[in-house]
Amino acid sequence: MENSHDAMSDFAQHLIRWQQTHGRHHLPWQGTHDAYRIWLSEIMLQQTQVGTVIPYYRRFLERFPDLARLAEASQDEVLELWSGLGYYSRGRNLHAAAQQVREQHGGIFPERVEDIVALPGVGRSTAHAIAAFAFGRRVAILDGNVKRVLTRHFGITGHPGEKKVETALWQLAESLLPTHSVATYIQAQMDLGATVCTRSRVACGSCPVSASCIARATNQVAVLPTPRPRKVTPQKTTRMLILRHAGEILLEKRPSIGIWGGLWSLPEAGMNTDIAAHCRTRFGVETVITGNLPELKHSFTHFSLRIAPQLLDVARIHHGVMEQAGQRWLTPEDALQTAIPTPVRKLIQQLLETGYAPWSG
Ligand code: ADE
Repeated sequence: MENSHDAMSDFAQHLIRWQQTHGRHHLPWQGTHDAYRIWLSEIMLQQTQVGTVIPYYRRFLERFPDLARLAEASQDEVLELWSGLGYYSRGRNLHAAAQQVREQHGGIFPERVEDIVALPGVGRSTAHAIAAFAFGRRVAILDGNVKRVLTRHFGITGHPGEKKVETALWQLAESLLPTHSVATYIQAQMDLGATVCTRSRVACGSCPVSASCIARATNQVAVLPTPRPRKVTPQKTTRMLILRHAGEILLEKRPSIGIWGGLWSLPEAGMNTDIAAHCRTRFGVETVITGNLPELKHSFTHFSLRIAPQLLDVARIHHGVMEQAGQRWLTPEDALQTAIPTPVRKLIQQLLETGYAPWSG
């Protein structure tokens, strides 16, 4: 480690100076110490790029300008505003965390790192980012960007998701912390990772610490950080039913636990299910099978899902009760405004594009 005897590492000093002239200073969550706004930005920025987040961030704050408003909202309302951002557990956790702050902290966002990290959806790095930006705490962060910067700069091999690599990276990150300007330093690491030390189009010529970068000196920039060891993920298959009636399609609310928890999705059936019988018992309708749309594939962390979409027209309604609890008939346009999983969004968009939308079929 460089200059471990100095009060402040060269690494941190160079980054702080670089941030002041080359970093980002006008992001909508900067220039505030409002922990609610900072927390919201950090959650939205997990797994999602700044450019995608900004319009969602603004809309979300318009609807929920403070913690109290978020805590009293319904989960559906929160997920609707999240619709399209993906990784919906973030939205569910955000809502649950707002309620936790209301119940356990009198509605005031907690300042202690232990209390912040105890909120649903807030890991150690996110808690530290909030504590540094909102409360000026001297704490290190270790998100994907920082892992990339540190593994390259210090030539650390091994997948950062491995426990021992991660532990070493946390120690390193903590040892590099500057004695002052911690928030600027943290922003510098984020900015460097997002704009210079990127995954593929790396701009070492613009890097303030390239002179001491081990990956650069040993020609390892392209192979660090070490990727996750490849393992075959299991594949599952499901049939998604696009039930069409009077210009509308049927969506069902998924249980809050499991994939796409709490989202509105197309009804599903096993590949060997008798579809007509299934629709009769489950929805009380007679259907005509109209055709298939092309299969879709969707990857989760632990498995991949093959989706076989099935188009059905409702021919006759048995019970008169078409919409039961947890079911909604919606036009495709309204469905796209609802919190739906990404592949369902793709399917509905395809329906509209291919002329299979319910009113044209
Ligand atoms: N990614 C995560 N947090 C961020 C922040 N505060 N600014 C820019 N990108 C980020």
